[in-house]
Amino acid sequence: MTDHVVTEQDIARLVPEFYARVRRDALLGPIFDGAIDDWPHHLAKLQDFWSSVMLTSGRYKGQPMVAHVRHEQQMSKEAFARWLTIWAETSRELLSEEVAAAFQDRAARIAESLQLGIQFYRDR
Ligand code: HEM
Repeated sequence: MTDHVVTEQDIARLVPEFYARVRRDALLGPIFDGAIDDWPHHLAKLQDFWSSVMLTSGRYKGQPMVAHVRHEQQMSKEAFARWLTIWAETSRELLSEEVAAAFQDRAARIAESLQLGIQFYRDR
């Protein structure tokens, strides 16, 4: 069994379903729908991002901190908590336990660093 190994297929299942749920969420839906016009483009970019993070594919070239600081006013503690809850639920439902845990762990660390960056920007 190789269900502990993260694959491109895991990412291709997780990312679209996660954002489908985010868009239906009362807190996060309006934030994303207000900021993103081209959903297929966003989903492709986020799959590249997760491929770079989990599989070191190097496909994503962007600046997540800049993207989130741009929407700083909507990036509340509650929004981050909600994001991580939906991420945990979606990964748990779609992936093996070990793979889901790896995605959850990584997302929590990135969320932490985004929040620190946003706080730094607010305190400047
Ligand atoms: C982009 C919202 C958390 C990864 C975006 C964009 C929005 C957004 C609105 C589009 C920005 C734009 O193009 O103007 C949020 C909200 C979050 C959150 C509301 C939680 C409160 C996260 C987390 C991660 C993440 C935890 C990673 C684990 C990304 C990436 C992009 C992005 C990679 C693309 C940046 C680029 O354009 O290169 N996010 N996000 N986000 N988000 Fe988030």
